[in-house]
Amino acid sequence: MIACITAAIAIPTGLCVLLAISNRELNQMVGDLKSQVAELQQSEQVTTASIAASDSSSPVSEQTSEYADGENGEEKLSISTDDWNLFLVNEQNFLPSDFTVELEKFPNTGGKQVDTRIVEPLTEMLDAMEEEGLRPVVCSAYRTIEYQTELFENYIDKRLAEGWTYEDAFYKARTRIAIPGASEHHTGLAVDIVSKTHQQLDDAQADTEEAIWLAEHCAEYGFILRYPEGKEDITGIEYESWHFRYVGEEAASYIMENEITLEEYLALAE
Ligand code: DAL
Ligand code: ZN
Repeated sequence: MIACITAAIAIPTGLCVLLAISNRELNQMVGDLKSQVAELQQSEQVTTASIAASDSSSPVSEQTSEYADGENGEEKLSISTDDWNLFLVNEQNFLPSDFTVELEKFPNTGGKQVDTRIVEPLTEMLDAMEEEGLRPVVCSAYRTIEYQTELFENYIDKRLAEGWTYEDAFYKARTRIAIPGASEHHTGLAVDIVSKTHQQLDDAQADTEEAIWLAEHCAEYGFILRYPEGKEDITGIEYESWHFRYVGEEAASYIMENEITLEEYLALAE
């Protein structure tokens, strides 16, 4: 007999991931998830950018770095991990419990919201695309923890319906839909942009004219392709040709020109 059990696993931010699992899988699943939580807690102890929910007053130490970026060392790149636009959210850096953001509805997106500060560069980027005859569609922007949880659970449910084990579905979900609290969509600084002619979030999206243009020009507007191909071991997320993150023009130029991730860029400040 399969009895559905709901287990609430508290992760360091206080967020709960609700899991519907069978008795047979329960023991292994809980063990695996406890290990995962322990790993996350360990990560939070060693990172300077994460803030534990129970201690939101913990200071985040700012790190600033300047280093030569030109042949003769004339050009200097300054990286301050405290800059709002370089705010890092991933599985090692969960959204702080005291995080706040001023949101603004973005036009022509059915009420989707972004951080007020990126409305202008995002508008300029999309306008530039449209002037070239492209048809970009912002299909996702700011997300609440609740909405991310819904997306995460829906993804798992679909895999379960396909016959995956819960464990496999869970670990796969982590690479496609960030764990609630670990998605930078919570910051309002990330948007998913697809082509009006092909709106699926799949491999073929990368071949659309819109995705090709964005990969080439996004940095001019301060955005980066946040989850590049071949960097999955660093970002923890599979290649997403549609996910763009605002970091500011200086950081975006460096990141895109050097084909690195935000994680690698911020590590330069250490
Ligand atoms: N799909 C990206 C990783 C997110 O859910 O934030
Ligand atoms: Zn996204």
